[in-house]
Amino acid sequence: MAKVIFENTKEEFSLPDGSSIIKPCEKVGINFACGYEGICGSCLIEIVEGMENLNKPTQAEEDFFGEIENKRLACQCKILKNTVKIKF
Ligand code: FES
Repeated sequence: MAKVIFENTKEEFSLPDGSSIIKPCEKVGINFACGYEGICGSCLIEIVEGMENLNKPTQAEEDFFGEIENKRLACQCKILKNTVKIKF
C-alpha cells in the first residue's frame, strides 16, 4: 500500500500501489476542471516529498510545464509505492 499525505490539511489516504491519486485529491477539494485531460492546470499540486514514488511526468505534463521541477498535475499522477507528500 502507498500513502498520500496533504501538507495543508494534514489528511492521509492509503491506496494500492500504482493507483491514480485523483480520488484522495478530490476528497481534499482539488478541482479537476478539464475532466483529467491534463490541459487546464486546475489540479496543479506541489510535491513536497516523494516525487520518486510517482510515475514519470506524462506528455500532457511536459507540454503544460516545459521544464518540470516539483510541480505535477494531479490528474496525471499515479503513486507507485511508499509515501508522497503534497501541497496544493
Ligand atoms: S484536471 Fe485539468 S489538468 Fe488536471
